Amino acid sequence: MIKVAFFDAKEYDINSFNKISDSNMEFKFLETKLTEDTVELAKGYDVVCVFVNDTVNEKVIESLYEYGVRLIALRCAGYNNVDVAKAYGKIHVVHVPAYSPYAVAEHAAALLLTSVRRIHKAYNRTRDFNFSLSGLTGFDLHGKTVGVIGTGKIGRIFIDICMGFGMNVIAYDAFPAKDSKIEYVSLDELFEKSNIISLHCPLTDETRHMIGADAIGKMKKGVVILNTSRGALIDAEALLDGIKARKIGAACLDVYEEEADIFFEDRSGHILNDELLARLISMPNVIVTSHQAFLTEEALENIAETTVNNIKSCFENEGVCDNELCYRCGSVEECKKKRKQKCF
Ligand code: NAI
Repeated sequence: MIKVAFFDAKEYDINSFNKISDSNMEFKFLETKLTEDTVELAKGYDVVCVFVNDTVNEKVIESLYEYGVRLIALRCAGYNNVDVAKAYGKIHVVHVPAYSPYAVAEHAAALLLTSVRRIHKAYNRTRDFNFSLSGLTGFDLHGKTVGVIGTGKIGRIFIDICMGFGMNVIAYDAFPAKDSKIEYVSLDELFEKSNIISLHCPLTDETRHMIGADAIGKMKKGVVILNTSRGALIDAEALLDGIKARKIGAACLDVYEEEADIFFEDRSGHILNDELLARLISMPNVIVTSHQAFLTEEALENIAETTVNNIKSCFENEGVCDNELCYRCGSVEECKKKRKQKCF
């Protein structure tokens, strides 16, 4: 029997994983996040299943290894919260590379439409029988230029959606796709030309705070910034300054750099201890959703299915799993092509 401890497990995780019953696996759902303080709860388990805001740093990995945990199974795509290099030689790490790129791309489009057509304001008004249109003037997306940063699975679907609206799409990617008709430009050109900028690249040392004061300085006045990728791609203080200076027309954030202790929980009735987030939320042209872009029935089903298959592969298939992360190249794609075997 493979014993799996789920950290930061929510009702929707429990429902989707319980639907996939596997007689060889035993699930334990824990509400708490995995951190240095809670890692002891992993004692006696073969696998820890973690999500975006669990902390899997060197100390946590050392403890997991000491307790005999053999696998870290991420039930998400991004793995910036796992020190994969420190796990090398000790514990294998797997993730779910794609569960529904449509879910995230469509959420980015939903945020964009909500923002530019002021749907969030109209919704609140009409519920109060206020039918005034004052202050609700939006703008057409048709003919506007959208700059997409990161043209992987999600970025490309977002591009298709934007094309459907008749928008002019330009893109930047550190590794541009060779076989596509995407118009790639430099990052500076993208900042200078875009009416809307949408982030779809991973969080790395290179991309951390890629949207900072410098980048915002190069952008068009009134630019709309969408972030459904990772919070730390944006320097939130610089974003707030840009909004206060009327440089940024709107910001739609599904992710936030300091979200780990805030998002996914009901904090209503509490005093929010994050001044910056509180100030951003108070802005009329900022929409925040709490890392919700992935949350569709289809995505949850795929996450559960792929995670269970990942675990099975690691324990049954001589440890070979296509979705294993590699410490060496840091790129799952490359690894899969080169190795087709275990990371260590
Ligand atoms: P992907 O791996 O298919 O695409 C990422 C793209 O970013 C690739 O084309 C890659 O070449 C590019 N890239 C890498 N380094 C870059 C750099 N320095 N500058 C510009 N581009 C760079 O990933 P996918 O599935 O499209 O996901 C994108 C991101 O979306 C993930 O990294 C994750 O952080 C985020 N995400 C957010 C979710 C949410 O619920 N808000 C859910 C799932 C993913």
